[in-house]
Amino acid sequence: MSSVAVIGSGYVGLATAVCLAELGHQVIGVDIDEAKIAKLRGGTPTIYEPGLDELIASNLKAGRLAFTSDYDKAIPGADFVFIAVGTPPGRRGEADLHFVKQAAKAVAGAMKKTVTIVNKSTVPIGTGNIVARIVGENLGDEIPFYVVSNPEFLREGSAVYDFMHPDRLVFGSHDESAARAVAALYGKLDTTILITDLHTAEMIKYASNAFLATRISFINEMARICERVDADVKVVSEGMGLDRRIGPLFLDAGIGYGGSCFPKDVKALARMAETMGYHPELLDAVMEINLDQRTLVVEKLREVLGGLRGQVIGLLGLAFKPNTDDVREAPSIDVIENLLQKGATVRAYDPKAMPVLKAQMNSIEYCTDPYAVAKDADALLVVTEWEEFRHLDLDRLKSVMRRPVIVDGRNIFDPKTMRDRGFVYRGVGRS
Ligand SMILES: NC(=O)c1ccc[n+]([C@@H]2O[C@H](COP(=O)([O-])OP(=O)(O)OC[C@H]3O[C@@H](n4cnc5c(N)ncnc54)[C@H](O)[C@@H]3O)[C@@H](O)[C@H]2O)c1
Repeated sequence: MSSVAVIGSGYVGLATAVCLAELGHQVIGVDIDEAKIAKLRGGTPTIYEPGLDELIASNLKAGRLAFTSDYDKAIPGADFVFIAVGTPPGRRGEADLHFVKQAAKAVAGAMKKTVTIVNKSTVPIGTGNIVARIVGENLGDEIPFYVVSNPEFLREGSAVYDFMHPDRLVFGSHDESAARAVAALYGKLDTTILITDLHTAEMIKYASNAFLATRISFINEMARICERVDADVKVVSEGMGLDRRIGPLFLDAGIGYGGSCFPKDVKALARMAETMGYHPELLDAVMEINLDQRTLVVEKLREVLGGLRGQVIGLLGLAFKPNTDDVREAPSIDVIENLLQKGATVRAYDPKAMPVLKAQMNSIEYCTDPYAVAKDADALLVVTEWEEFRHLDLDRLKSVMRRPVIVDGRNIFDPKTMRDRGFVYRGVGRS
C-alpha cells in the first residue's frame, strides 16, 4: 500500500483517486474548488459517472479515501503525487498549462520528503521537464524528487471501468526506476505495461487521441460520399470493421466528436507541431471535417423543412456522448447556436446534461422527457445516442409532433423502419 495525493478532483482526478483507493492505496484528493471538496467529503459525487458514487462511499467508509483543499495536509505524507488538473485550450488552440504550473508550484511548496510526481493531465511534449523545473525552483529545502508521465486513457461515461480494465498503462520518465515504481501502484491490474521516456509517453497520449479523432472524421467523410453514391455508411462501417486490420470501434458516422479531450487535444497537437516548424495537414483536415458535421445536420433540417425561421426544433440529447453529463465542446452547443441564429425555436431533453447546460445557456427550453420535446415540434434532431432514445414509442412521438421529421445525427434508427412508420427521416450517410 502506498500513500498517494491526487491534485485535481475533476473527471480524471476523481476517478484516479477513487480507483487507486479501491486498489488498496491510502489516497487524498486535492482540489482548489472548496465547494467540490465539501461535497466529496460528504460522499456526494460532483459528476455523473456510472459506479463512482458507490466507490466514493465505500472507500470513504473504509478510511482509504479523503479530500482536502489544503496542500499542506495532502503533500507531506504522500509518496506519489498525481497531477490531474485541466489543460484547457488557450487562445490559439495550444494547451494552457497554467493549472499544471500552479499545481507543480503548490506541490513543491508543501513537500517535506522525496516524492514521485506523476503527471496524468494531457500535456504538450516536454511538460514533464517544465514541471521538474518549477518544482526544483520552488522547493524550500533540497529534496530529491522524480517526475513520471502516466497519461490517462479513460473515457467519460465508463471512467471507473476503464481505469480498472485498461488496454495498456504507459509510464515515461528520465528515471526508469521511478516509472516502474508508479507502475507498481497498478500492480493488481492485469494489463500491458509500457515503460518509456518522458517525451514518448506524453506523445503516446496525443497520438492516440488524434488517431481516434481521425477515424471519426474519416468515416464522416465516407458518409458524405455515401450520400452522393447511394450507399449506407452504417453497413460500410460494419464491412470495414470486420477487417481485423481496421476493427469496428470509432467508425460511427454522425455529428462528429466533441467533449473535453478530442477537440482540444487534436488542436493542441497541431499547434505544437506548428511551433516546431511542421504543418500538420491531416490533423487540420480532421478538425475541419468534424466542425462541418455540426453544420451539415442543421442544413439537413433546413432542407427538409424548407427553412428554419419560426420552426420548432426538438433536440434529443445535449451531452457530447451518452452516459455523461459533460457538455464541454459538445456538438449540441454549436447546433443550438446555429439554429437560434437561423430563427428557429429550440427545446431539448437530455437524461443527465440539462442542469449543466442550463447553467450556461438559457435561450432554449428544457423539457422533462422526449415526448415533451416532440410536442408540436416541426422536427426532432438526435444529437446524443442515449440508449433510452433507441426505445422510444415512435407512434406516440409521431402523434404529438406538428410534422413527423427526424434528422438522426447519430444513426440510431433504421431508415426503412422510420419511413414505414410515417416519418420523414434523414440519417448521416445513409441511402
Ligand atoms: N475527461 C476525460 O475524459 C479525460 C481523459 C483522459 C485525460 N484527460 C485529461 O486529464 C486532465 C484533467 O481533465 P478533467 O476532465 O478531469 O478536468 P476537470 O476540469 O474535470 O478537472 C480539473 C480539476 O482540477 C482542479 N484544479 C485546477 N487547478 C488546480 C490546482 N492548482 N490545484 C488543485 N486542483 C486544481 C479544478 O478545480 C477541477 O476540479 C486534462 O489534461 C485532460 O485532457 C481527460
